[in-house]
Amino acid sequence: MTTRHLPTGAAPETGTFGPVRTAVFPAAGFGTRMLPATKSVPKEMLTVVDRPVIQYGVEEAVASGIGKIVVITAAGKGSLEDHFDASRELEHVLERKGDEANLAVIRGVASMASMSYVRQAHALGLGHAVLLTEPLVGHEPFAVFLPDDIMDGGDDPVMAQLMRVYDEHRCSVIAVERVPREHVSRYGVLAVETIGPRLHRIKDMVEKPAVGAAPSNLAIMGRYILTPTIFEKLRETTPGAGGEIQLTDGIRRLLAEETVLACEYVGTRYDCGSKLGYLRANVEMGLRHPVLGPSVRELLAEILGRS
Ligand code: UTP
Repeated sequence: MTTRHLPTGAAPETGTFGPVRTAVFPAAGFGTRMLPATKSVPKEMLTVVDRPVIQYGVEEAVASGIGKIVVITAAGKGSLEDHFDASRELEHVLERKGDEANLAVIRGVASMASMSYVRQAHALGLGHAVLLTEPLVGHEPFAVFLPDDIMDGGDDPVMAQLMRVYDEHRCSVIAVERVPREHVSRYGVLAVETIGPRLHRIKDMVEKPAVGAAPSNLAIMGRYILTPTIFEKLRETTPGAGGEIQLTDGIRRLLAEETVLACEYVGTRYDCGSKLGYLRANVEMGLRHPVLGPSVRELLAEILGRS
């Protein structure tokens, strides 16, 4: 097998992979950090301001030019499929009321992308979930969105930033952010060689390192572009931490064969898989909402004035 590597220190060469057309959304986890809310409601369906968390990711994919979405779901997650499907009965009710604004909103949600679903019968890990999408993705590069990370890139969606790197270098690209040193043990952390502004070639990755053992403070966040070679690597990967097939273990194997780049994106990440991150997302995105923003500001001032 040929090794598709950038020579150390050299500018990456254009590879042979085609355009990214599919975005994979793994959403089969249990969301235990959000219990009890997630006992019967999927964490991807919890609301931030006025829409479920997963919709932000799908909107980011569409705004980045990706129209084919594959969601990995599990038992009890049927509401995810309902959300992106047409709702004839609701449409009739809104039509009768003459509520054109909401009609446009719900029709927009149902037609924003081409949606497919794969079921993961047992939560055997993020890597296992991604591997299940191979028949739908095919032998093509694809994007991965961890839906509980809402990424606000403003006018430049975070996935669009990764796509530009991909279009130039035609290799796997991972979104990274610099985190405070004392927080590195919460993340997958990278050893890198910097090859451009906010761009690095990944040499190694360590999952949740001790603060003193971290090779850098560049942490992996929930957006990836992966070449289809990852499927081969995930098949070879044996269960790691927690008995799960980890995506990072698959990417470490990929590193032995292909160049993988890290893109320090510009934007804000909201970790909606944790209670505090979820609350922060609601407050900050509420403040920035074009209609609700001023009222949210007044409300917060009133609450803070009372405390
Ligand atoms: P997380 O560890 O953040 O999600 O997995 P979780 O397991 O649902 O959350 P907690 O830790 O119990 O609160 C990262 C992503 O991978 C998906 C999750 O749905 C989440 O989007 N995942 C994880 C799967 O699809 N299948 C799995 O077997 C594991």
